[in-house]
Amino acid sequence: MEEEYIPVKKSQVNLLKKTPLYYFSKDGEPLLYKKDGITLDVERIQLKNYPELFIHKSYKQEASKELYKTLNISLARAISAKGLATIKALLCEVVEEALNDSLGTSFDMLPETLEILFQGYSENKSLLESLTLISSSSSLLTNHTVNVLALTMHYCIWNKFSDAEIKILGICAILHDIGLTKIERAIVETDEQLTDIQFEQFKTHTLKGYKIINNLFNFEKEIALVALEHHEKLDGSGYPKGMTDISDAAHLIGLIDSYEYMAYRDKKFRRAQKPFGAMQILKKDVMAGKYNKKMFVELCSCLTR
Ligand SMILES: [Fe+2]
Ligand SMILES: [Fe+2]
Repeated sequence: MEEEYIPVKKSQVNLLKKTPLYYFSKDGEPLLYKKDGITLDVERIQLKNYPELFIHKSYKQEASKELYKTLNISLARAISAKGLATIKALLCEVVEEALNDSLGTSFDMLPETLEILFQGYSENKSLLESLTLISSSSSLLTNHTVNVLALTMHYCIWNKFSDAEIKILGICAILHDIGLTKIERAIVETDEQLTDIQFEQFKTHTLKGYKIINNLFNFEKEIALVALEHHEKLDGSGYPKGMTDISDAAHLIGLIDSYEYMAYRDKKFRRAQKPFGAMQILKKDVMAGKYNKKMFVELCSCLTR
């Protein structure tokens, strides 16, 4: 019986207003907790005063749409109120949902999220960069993904990419590391240096991500290729294949990915380099032929304007 029901994350309970929610009795019987169209009262939500809640599988699509819709409305409100911490937290929610796909979404609502961010940027040019400076309580993977998304959009808008290109690259940024959701969490979230065996496992996130995205029939091939190739380098020193003919989108996301990792991620074996230090390290890689020089210069100019 329980396979018919999908657990709802505590952070999402107040977002599912239309969707009926269920809980299980001590005997394992599913019981209706709230009907569709009913909102739980605020106090109960704040105190998390409710049992573990579930949705019925038949409501999966609708619940997913409702979830994204509510998140997007909240995001638009947070952007107009200029609440950076709230914007970051909401983006983390959207990204977490996209990566973990707990409700089996088809990512239909992601372009709307990107559109809202785009609007926010047009009113506040430092919005996207500022978001990377806010830390959230979400996982390292989620934070990293939101930062890569913000930096990618900032780069694209700064370099006058078309709306359509920005949206595709935004989705590429959100999904580039989706394969990491299939890697042991201890490897993905550690701040220790990985052992050789762990690193071999880590590297497989590229192919895993490619397969996950390729299975989503409504997605452009380019998005799956970014997941596959974002750790490849122009001199062939990257992985998984050591190829040198990398798609532009994968190369751009790969460059921003490395920058984000060095600039913002503290590890036990090295401190986060902050923007200037990260650029200096990347510059060495550019000189060694690993990254495209023009792209690197464009990234630096949009970050140091
Ligand atoms: Fe990656
Ligand atoms: Fe990444």
